[in-house]
Amino acid sequence: MPRPPETFRTARLFARKPRREDAEAIFNAYAGDPDATRYLTFPTHTSVEPVADFLQARVEDWAREDGSKFNYMLCKDGTDIPIGALDVGIQGYKAMYGYALGRAHWGRGYMTEGLRYLVDWALAQPEIHRAWAFCDVDNPASARVMEKAGMTREGILRRWHVAPNISPEPRDCIVCAKVR
Ligand SMILES: CC(C)(COP(=O)(O)OP(=O)(O)OC[C@H]1O[C@@H](n2cnc3c(N)ncnc32)[C@H](O)[C@@H]1OP(=O)(O)O)[C@@H](O)C(=O)NCCC(=O)NCCS
Repeated sequence: MPRPPETFRTARLFARKPRREDAEAIFNAYAGDPDATRYLTFPTHTSVEPVADFLQARVEDWAREDGSKFNYMLCKDGTDIPIGALDVGIQGYKAMYGYALGRAHWGRGYMTEGLRYLVDWALAQPEIHRAWAFCDVDNPASARVMEKAGMTREGILRRWHVAPNISPEPRDCIVCAKVR
């Protein structure tokens, strides 16, 4: 199973493995922000401790020899403080992504930069043929990020994802992919 690098750099970002101690920065950046978590899979956090537990689980993902899920903390290059997170999950010939950025940093191309790196990395692996992600139909910024990172919009996955901050009912999602 291919493993992505433990760190990578883009023009403006430094990406590294998470640490439990990143919890406060991640809570402040997006995990405790109702706007930034609106379309995400978890209820907006109200304290730092559950974020630390989440990050600890991601540290353990990296430690598995047969690991398939790799979470990165995105820092502005030259700093070590995460402004967001980006992950890739590898299942056979498919790589799937998830991401979130602190609101203060939206609209400057940061997530496109990070995602593009991991899409290009995945499709450079002989085993991987499909790099894909989905987002809520009401989250056009995320759909745009996928397209700018090189993916093509394929359609709508109906009733695909529950965004608990909106409602307990599964919602329609836009699916995008780049293949080779
Ligand atoms: C979605 C998210 C990751 C985007 O990150 P970002 O670094 O701001 O994205 P970028 O700056 O690289 O690109 C955003 C693009 O969306 C566009 N955009 C923003 N809001 C938009 C809207 N309401 N409608 C249409 N396009 C929109 C921007 O104009 C930009 O495209 P452009 O460069 O062609 O102008 C960020 O907003 C975020 O973290 N949101 C909260 C968490 C989330 O929803 N994650 C995705 C879960 S699937």
